[in-house]
Parts: sequence; C-alpha cells; structure tokens
Amino acid sequence: MNFKKIYDEYKSYFEIELKKSTDTFIGTEENLISAMKYSLLAGGKRFRPVLMLMVSDVLGVNRQTILPFAIALEYIHTYSLIHDDLPSMDNDDLRRGKPTNHVVYGEDMAILAGDALLNKAYEIVFRNVGSVYSINASRILSTFAGMNGMVGGQAYDIKNTSYPQTIETLQKIHENKTGKLITASVVIPSCFAGDEHFLELKEYGEKLGLLFQITDDLLDFTSSTEEMGKNVNKDFNANKLTYVTLLGEKKALEFAETTLNDALIAIKNIKNNEVLVELAKYVINRKN
Ligand code: IPE
Ligand code: IPE
Ligand code: MG
Ligand code: MG
Ligand code: MG
Repeated sequence: MNFKKIYDEYKSYFEIELKKSTDTFIGTEENLISAMKYSLLAGGKRFRPVLMLMVSDVLGVNRQTILPFAIALEYIHTYSLIHDDLPSMDNDDLRRGKPTNHVVYGEDMAILAGDALLNKAYEIVFRNVGSVYSINASRILSTFAGMNGMVGGQAYDIKNTSYPQTIETLQKIHENKTGKLITASVVIPSCFAGDEHFLELKEYGEKLGLLFQITDDLLDFTSSTEEMGKNVNKDFNANKLTYVTLLGEKKALEFAETTLNDALIAIKNIKNNEVLVELAKYVINRKN
C-alpha cells in the first residue's frame, strides 16, 4: 500500500471542499473574513479530517454525510491553534509556515477570528443535522471540543507547567488538549454506522491522539522550524511539561511505541482496517 499517496488523495479532496466552504464567508467586516481564511487556508496536514474520512470509508459511511463534520472539525482545530498561539498563551509567531494570525491581524482580530470559526463550525453542522445519528455526532463534537475536551486540556496545560509533575498529569493534559479532537474524528463516523465498532474506535482514537501529542513533543525537540512550519525548541527552552522534558527523548520514544501498539490492538478486529494501521504508523514516523 502506498500510504502517502492515499493520504494525499484524501487531503486533496478535503482541501477542495474546505476552500468551497469559505465561499459562504460574506456580509461582515472584511478584516474578520480575511483573518478567518488566512489561518484556515494556510496549509496544515489536515490530519483530523483525513482521519475522519478514512474511518468513514472503512465503515461504509457516505462522504456527503460526513463532510460537514470533517469541515467543522478542521474549523475548530484551526481556531484552537489561533488562540494557542496568542501572546497570553504560547506566544508564537509562526504557524503553518506563516506568521501567526495575531501577528498579521492583531490580537483583537485573532481572538474574533477564532470565535467566528468556532461558531461557523456549528452553523455548518446545524445546517446538516437531521437524523438521530447526526444529533449524536453533534453532541460528541461539542463535548469533545469544549470544557471536558480540547478546551479543558488547554486549561490543564496552562495550570500544570511547573515542576514537579507526574506522568498521570501529563497524560491527562495530552488526552484532552489533543486527544479529544482526534477521538471525535474517529467516533463521529461510527455514529453514522449505527455505533459500529464505537468502543474499539474510541480506544484507537484515544491512543492515536496521545501518540500524536507525544510526537509533537518529540518533534519540538528534534525537528526544524522549516520542517514543522512553527517554532521548535520552544517547549524545551521554556522547560514546559512535555514527554521529552519529563522523561527524556529515549523514554518518550519508547512510550510512543507502546502507545502505537495499544492503538493497533484496539482495531485488530475491525475489517478492512489496513489504512488505519498505516495511519497510526504514519503518526509515529511523521516529520512534521
Ligand atoms: C498542532 O496540530 C497542534 C497539536 C494538537 C499538536 P497539527 O500538528 O495537526 O497542526 P496542523 O493542522 O498540521 O497545522
Ligand atoms: C496545542 O498543543 C494543542 C491545541 C489544542 C492547540 P501545543 O501548544 O503543543 O501545539 P503547538 O506545538 O503549538 O502546535
Ligand atoms: Mg499550547
Ligand atoms: Mg502551542
Ligand atoms: Mg507543541
């Protein structure tokens, strides 16, 4: 299987649909529209929507049904990055290979662009809600993105930066700030397939999400700004609580391998799971 080619095909399909979705950004302050489009269309791996589309195909869920959720999820993810980069949070000036939103548009407009993307995400979802399946999927999206999901994880991240810290705390941060949106990407398709393999996919999503953030921590330490499109060595220099600062590079890598293994065990009984196996391996080997 040429996994890279498959990933890129999913990504290209999604990019076109994402771009189309921004055609409805009209009727408001031009600067706000421009700031929203700037971060949304700046590139990025599109990991979460690609994952959602792949799981949908494994379960036989229709593309048109899942697409609004894939777009909404990428909007929410992008808003989380705009806010994560703000001076009051991680204070970063580079994202997706470009100056961060607040550097270009100012902090005020960056905050509003994030707010608008979040609201637009739910507008897209509500326009497509009809079946009981889609109501369940919407509930999962909002729960996993909010105070008991990504936002809560960001709050844990802010409040637990000082040492000493335990691995349990770190796991709780990662499971929420990164794990929840990735888990949402794999369980939402299951909602549209009568909850088929729901628990197995949930477990896979949780492990994959944890793995994704462990590799993010590792890449901060080992990669370059050019490769990542964002500043590196930031966590390390700030002595921020990450898998690398807590365990060291070698142990962090070992933990990544154990987590990958757990992710693969979770989906071992799912038919046609090859693409999901390859995706998990891609995460541990990713270079950006
Ligand atoms: C970055 O997410 C934030 C984390 C949760 C680690 P991605 O690594 O998916 O960023 P993009 O979307 O490719 O820019
Ligand atoms: C952020 O984690 C996760 C989000 C919810 C945005 P990081 O702060 O480690 O993400 P990067 O390294 O800035 O992309
Ligand atoms: Mg952060
Ligand atoms: Mg950050
Ligand atoms: Mg990081």
